[in-house]
Amino acid sequence: MNRQPEWLNNAVFYEVYPQSFNDTNGDGIGDIPGITEKLDYIAELGCTALWINPCFDSPFGDAGYDVADYCKVAPRYGTNDDLVNLFSEAHKRGMHVLLDLVPGHTSWKHPWFLESMKAERNEYTDRYVWTNSIWEEPTGYGSLRGISDRDGSCAVNFFTHQPALNYGYYKPERPWQQSMDSEGAIATRNAMKDVMRFWLSRGCDGFRVDMAGSLVKNDEDGKGTIKLWQDVREFLDAEFPEAAMVSEWGEPDKSLQGGFHMDFLLHFGPSHYNDLFRYGQPFFEGNGDCSEFVKKYIENCEKSEHKGLICIPSGNHDMDRLAKWVHGDKLKTAFAFLLSMPGAPFIYYGDEIGMRYVEGLTSVEGGYGRTGSRSPMQWNSGKNAGFSDAEADKLYIPLDPDTNRPNAEAQMSDPDSLRSEVKKLISIRMAHPALQSRGDIRFAYYGKESYPLAYVRTASDEKILVVLNPSDKEAEFSFDGEAAEVIYSFGGGAALSGGKVTAQPVSACFIKLK
Ligand code: NOJ
Repeated sequence: MNRQPEWLNNAVFYEVYPQSFNDTNGDGIGDIPGITEKLDYIAELGCTALWINPCFDSPFGDAGYDVADYCKVAPRYGTNDDLVNLFSEAHKRGMHVLLDLVPGHTSWKHPWFLESMKAERNEYTDRYVWTNSIWEEPTGYGSLRGISDRDGSCAVNFFTHQPALNYGYYKPERPWQQSMDSEGAIATRNAMKDVMRFWLSRGCDGFRVDMAGSLVKNDEDGKGTIKLWQDVREFLDAEFPEAAMVSEWGEPDKSLQGGFHMDFLLHFGPSHYNDLFRYGQPFFEGNGDCSEFVKKYIENCEKSEHKGLICIPSGNHDMDRLAKWVHGDKLKTAFAFLLSMPGAPFIYYGDEIGMRYVEGLTSVEGGYGRTGSRSPMQWNSGKNAGFSDAEADKLYIPLDPDTNRPNAEAQMSDPDSLRSEVKKLISIRMAHPALQSRGDIRFAYYGKESYPLAYVRTASDEKILVVLNPSDKEAEFSFDGEAAEVIYSFGGGAALSGGKVTAQPVSACFIKLK
């Protein structure tokens, strides 16, 4: 097991997309003081940690994933002091804060890139992946060409305005492809360590790392990238042993080997995450199939040798809102799953109240189809749903126009709301080590196109059977065990007797076993 900070054992994360969370200066865009102001809301829900999407200086061609200065908070969000104050306010509440580290690329407006484009050799010539002729393009996402005095094409990582930083090639094949231990590649790595050092020494608790699996090029099996992260791990162990690291990689067997504490299962990659929550017929909408997901999950656990945590998010800023695909009380069964699985759960802001995907929006800051999942948080039934005092047409992204849109205030005073259920589920998780990050899991029932999904979570002498039935029909399976106490039940729950478990339609149940 990778040495991990103690607090990760029972951490529940809340992802904040800063531009859409809470606007305190009336400019229509969320800000850092706005996040600080809502820490009590997040703590009241039961979350113990935050992941904040990039909040650094940027031309915002990709909502901040195109960084122009890694060490400066974007003025529209506030100042570095505001961010440091957020860290300390979070710590006062026993909470931890992860920033978003984007090590793979910068904005094309980053001063490093402006220098790198120059024809004369300088300190930044090798900071990015360049070919040595404008007529040769690197393979990958494409390249930036014809915009510099320098004769060459620069590889890009995602959008064409995001030039790829140079961490070297695992197997260099062309004369311009530098090795992982070339001077330029090492200098980039060191520069990224400096960025980490900058924020960790100011109170940040770690990073969510963007596209962590794609830094080294020509590295099909990820061997080079794993090696690179192992080197970063050594640096962190030596200087910031308490820093928590979570990767956007989607292949835990590789990322955990690289020294990350946690990796996400995502809407891309081999995990079958979508089978549960999105697109086609999701299992949690009651007419799907979870079997491939479970098989892959077991495979991932075995391959990653329990080295770290496999995190399953409710959603994020890149995928459709959960509530677009899973509806009504079925959302509660989905949260019963998310909050009873191993790994650290991640709740995307607004998912706890069932915020909807807003259809038909024009793309904002490179969001395209993702824009509908990034609309302003709905705090109450007042002006702009309590998000901002600005005029409605000044909001960063328009609000969900539905007059019945859910809001946090109403749900907090309704014991039957989704938010109240999520809060209850988090508090049950917190009270039972078996349900937490490191508790063991053994699947008790999962069938092809069949319900329910059931598993036993174990830690020391505590054993809890979780039974989830989002389908509209009663469902049963054979189970060898004896019930001691039902610790959570929703929708009529499930009964265990005579070697059989019977689950009510659209129900969830946690049964403590003898
Ligand atoms: C993944 C991020 O989550 C996404 O929002 C971004 O556009 C790409 N990486 C590029 O940085």
